[in-house]
Amino acid sequence: MPTRASLALLWPYAAWEAHGAATGEWRTLTFYDVVPAHCRGRVSNMDVANVAGDMFFSTKDKYLAVACPSCLANKSCHGAATFDCTNPESTGQLVVRQLSVEVLAFGDAYSLCDVWPHHGECEYSCFAPPGHKGPGVGRERVCAGGSWRACGMAPDPSPVVPFRHAWDYWNWNIASRFGNSGGGEWYSLTAADEGLHWRNASVVKAIDQACQARAFDGLVVSRGAACFEACPQPANRSSECWVDCFFETLLGPGAATTLKPPGAQTGAMDVGHLADAWLSGLRHDDPAKGGCPPLSALLPVP
Ligand SMILES: *[C@@H]1O[C@H](CO)[C@@H](O)[C@H](O)[C@H]1NC(C)=O
Ligand SMILES: *[C@@H]1O[C@H](CO)[C@@H](O)[C@H](O)[C@H]1NC(C)=O
Ligand SMILES: *[C@@H]1O[C@H](CO)[C@@H](O)[C@H](O)[C@H]1NC(C)=O
Repeated sequence: MPTRASLALLWPYAAWEAHGAATGEWRTLTFYDVVPAHCRGRVSNMDVANVAGDMFFSTKDKYLAVACPSCLANKSCHGAATFDCTNPESTGQLVVRQLSVEVLAFGDAYSLCDVWPHHGECEYSCFAPPGHKGPGVGRERVCAGGSWRACGMAPDPSPVVPFRHAWDYWNWNIASRFGNSGGGEWYSLTAADEGLHWRNASVVKAIDQACQARAFDGLVVSRGAACFEACPQPANRSSECWVDCFFETLLGPGAATTLKPPGAQTGAMDVGHLADAWLSGLRHDDPAKGGCPPLSALLPVP
């Protein structure tokens, strides 16, 4: 398993330098997020991530086409793996953003920021779950394994057979790959902390998520070509076969049925290569270079 020092070399664009930044100095950091297209001018009261943290979030979405019909039919979309079946940030027209933000310090008060039911469009608000407290920009490491209390984003699949699904394993295994092995982190930029712990946020670039996904999906599809080509509909991203090939290729064999903690991820794709593909649309504007044009007329950041 790579050490933090070697990851710092691998992730020059991540927020590593922020660790232990309680020195009273403001530093300019780069964050990423995925938001509904029409909310792309806002930053305050939103959750953001480093590259690996956001790769976890956006890779989860690849199985929703398979998982959501099943959990919606059973009215059981409450699990860690299926929470996003009803999350506006995982459906509809989305954009991926690169943000520049000055941060003074991080703390343990990571908050869930979302547009909650009965709130207006793009009206984000945050709450900190019990135990998440202390000053600083809230930070949570992407984790996998254990109970709900130990790791709410990717707890162990249910021991009861009808309630353990392929997507519980996919969720766990991508969290393990991008979190425990990749150093993924999430941060909450709450309005209450603005000016105190973070300030001067700006949107560096915002791109259409479907465009951004092309380079990332293309990398996985070319690596797993034999698997995808054997599907009845090799290009149907909503089909069980395509989704299964996607995770078998990304995470290695048995991704839908076995837990793959760090040290047991043989065959998984390299996190650094995936990050380059994930960032391609933000780094380049030209589609011929895997780039995506910046979305015009960014709304002013409130
Ligand atoms: C939920 O519904 C699907 C059919 O849509 C079914 O295959 C599945 O076994 C059901 N039960 C659970 C616990 O997911
Ligand atoms: C950042 O914020 C501080 C405090 O509000 C302000 O004094 C400073 O000019 C800002 N810097 C930039 C580059 O906007
Ligand atoms: C793709 O697969 C899904 C799930 O099997 C199916 O509902 C959908 O109709 C397929 N799309 C096309 C274009 O055939």
